[in-house]
Amino acid sequence: MKAIVQDTYGPADVLQLRDIDRPAIGDDDVLVQVRAAGVDPGVWIFMAGRPYLARLASGLRRPRVPVRGRDLAGVVAAVGARVTRFRPGDEVYGTCLRGSYAEFASAPQRRLARKPANVSFTQAAAVPVSGMTALRAVRDSGEVRPGHRVLVIGASGGVGSLAVQIAKAYGATVTAVCAPAKADFVRSLGAEDVLDYTSAEVDRDGPVYDVVIDTGGDRPLSLLRRALTPHGTLALVGGAYAKGPMLSGYDRQMFRAPLLSLFVSQRLRSVSAVERAEDLGELRGLVESGALTWRSTAPTPLPRHRTRSGTSGTGTRQERSSSPSELLVIAAHQPRRRPARRPVRRHHPPARRAAGRPRRPGSPAAAVSAGLVLAALALAAWGSPPPAPGTGPTAIADFPDVDKPAPEQQSTPPNRPPGTERAGGPRRPCIVSDDRQVT
Ligand SMILES: NC(=O)c1ccc[n+]([C@@H]2O[C@H](COP(=O)([O-])OP(=O)(O)OC[C@H]3O[C@@H](n4cnc5c(N)ncnc54)[C@H](OP(=O)(O)O)[C@@H]3O)[C@@H](O)[C@H]2O)c1
Repeated sequence: MKAIVQDTYGPADVLQLRDIDRPAIGDDDVLVQVRAAGVDPGVWIFMAGRPYLARLASGLRRPRVPVRGRDLAGVVAAVGARVTRFRPGDEVYGTCLRGSYAEFASAPQRRLARKPANVSFTQAAAVPVSGMTALRAVRDSGEVRPGHRVLVIGASGGVGSLAVQIAKAYGATVTAVCAPAKADFVRSLGAEDVLDYTSAEVDRDGPVYDVVIDTGGDRPLSLLRRALTPHGTLALVGGAYAKGPMLSGYDRQMFRAPLLSLFVSQRLRSVSAVERAEDLGELRGLVESGALTWRSTAPTPLPRHRTRSGTSGTGTRQERSSSPSELLVIAAHQPRRRPARRPVRRHHPPARRAAGRPRRPGSPAAAVSAGLVLAALALAAWGSPPPAPGTGPTAIADFPDVDKPAPEQQSTPPNRPPGTERAGGPRRPCIVSDDRQVT
C-alpha cells in the first residue's frame, strides 16, 4: 500500500511516499481502509521531533513509527478476533497509533467510533484529536457548567473553535480570544464576546472567568490567573509553539501549573488528550445534533503514482496564515478518473502580515503552515510543480466520486457572515491535480 513515511526527524522534506506492507492487526484491532486523514499540530511535532521532549515518546534518534498521521476516517476492512463493536463495511472515525497517512491503518477498537452520519469522511477526519482535546478541556479539566463564564484563548484554532462550541453546548457564556480577522468567525460559532489579543490582554476585564481554556500563545500563569475568579479553573492545552527546543511551552502545563495549583485557590490543570471511543461517541452526538460545525480544507489526495525522479522532493511552500478552524485533511483513495484542471486561487498574505507584522517562527500560525507543507510534500511526491498563478489546485468538490462535504458541512457554511473569509481571499487553498503526473 501507499503511505507517507519518514526515516529521520526534520522538515517536511523528510516525508516520502512509499510502498509498504499493510499493517498487521492484533486481536483487539481494526484494519481501516483510510478515506481521509487529518493534520493537527502533533503531526508536525512528531515529524520534526521538536520539542525534543516529544522524542521520549516517539524515538530518540528517529521515529519508531515511520508513518505519520493520527486522525482518520474510513471503512472497516477487517477486524481482530476480539473485536465486537465493528465489522467489515462499517464507517468509522478515530485515531490510530501507527500512522494514518496510508491507504490502510490499524487502530485499536477503543480508539474508534462510528462516523457521524451527517458528515463526509473528509469532514470526520478533521475532528478526532482536536475534538477530543476540546471536549476534555471543557468537560473534564474545565468542568464547565451552565452559567459559567468561559474564556477560550486560541478560539479560532482547531481545538479552540471546537472548545467554543462545546462550552456553548454545556450552557456557558463564552468570550473568544483571537486575531481581529477571525472575530466574525468565532462569533458565528456562538461566542458572545470577542477579545482581540493584538489590542488587549486576557485580564482586560479582571477576574471574571470561571474557566479559562488556553490553546494559543504562551502567556505566563500569573497573567492567566488574573482573568480567573478566585476559585476558577485554568485548563492548559497548548504550548507547542512557545520558545525552547527542549520543552517548548510544555513546562508550564507539565510542571509549573500543577505545582502552583497546590498553593493557590484556583485550579490550574493541564489537558491531556486521552483518545477513547466514549468521547468520540459524545462528539458524534454533538455533530449529529448540529451543535458542532467546522470547516476543513479541501483535501490533498494521497498520491498514487511515483514521480520520474523518485518520491521525495523539496516541497512546495505554500505560505498562508493560520485560518479560522480550518483543518487540513489528506484524502486517501482518490478516484481513478483524473479531474479537470481548474484555475488556481492565489493565496494572499493575511492582513496582519501585510501590515508588517512578521510571523514568529514556531508560532501556531507556523504550525498550520506546517500542515500545508505536509500537503505540499504530497504534491511534490506526486511530481507536481509548485502551484503557479492560474494553474493547479483542485478541491475535493471537483472529484465527483470522492465524498463531498454534506450540505450542512460545506467548507464555507452558507450562514457564515461576510468578512470571515481569510484575509485576501476565499478559503480554497488545496490541492492537487496536475497533468504532468508520471505513472
Ligand atoms: N494537550 C493535548 O493533548 C493537545 C492536543 C491537541 C493539540 N494540542 C496543542 O494545542 C495547541 C492548539 O492546537 P490547535 O490544533 O488548536 O492549533 P491551531 O489550529 O494552530 O490553533 C492555534 C491558535 O492559537 C491562536 N494564537 C496564536 N497566537 C496567539 C496569541 N498570542 N494569543 C491568543 N491566541 C493565539 C491562533 O489564533 P489566531 O489565528 O487568531 O492568531 C490559532 O488559531 C497546540 O499547541 C497543540 O500542540 C494539545
